[in-house]
Amino acid sequence: MNREDNELHTTRRAFCADLLLTSTAVMLAAPNLTETVAAQNSMVAYPARKIEGAELLLPGSGLYFNYPTRNDPAVLLRLSEGEYRAYSRRCSHAGCSVDFDGRSRCLQCPCHRGAYDGRLGHVMFGPPRRPLDEIVLEVRAGGHLWAVGKSIRDTEIITQGPQRR
Ligand code: FES
Repeated sequence: MNREDNELHTTRRAFCADLLLTSTAVMLAAPNLTETVAAQNSMVAYPARKIEGAELLLPGSGLYFNYPTRNDPAVLLRLSEGEYRAYSRRCSHAGCSVDFDGRSRCLQCPCHRGAYDGRLGHVMFGPPRRPLDEIVLEVRAGGHLWAVGKSIRDTEIITQGPQRR
């Protein structure tokens, strides 16, 4: 990683952390925001699959799995409050696999340096124009977590950070 890449990476990480705090404040100030966005998504049901290892996930960490097929990379996140969220790892820009960064709590795309927040999957940085698709979760018998469908998110982004030059 050269100096410019390093600075960009550091800036993006700080930006993700700052924006995560800001988005939390926005969520507290506007509790209906999530409902408004969810109403514009379309849900597709797929055969349910238990997410193995979900019960071992610590708050603030992530677990990779595949859903709905073995060729569809996904990530399960346990937020610091203990809530779970899951997303397709397919970047909405050009389809590269995003990676979860536990320190910034962002999902980062290595191809063109896009970044999404872990709380809602919204774009925070870079060229993507729509959120990550969300994997719909269900808690079933024994407290096990199952993936049961996918929410296709074709809405425009709500939060957009500074663009790279
Ligand atoms: S493919 Fe992810 S930012 Fe371009």
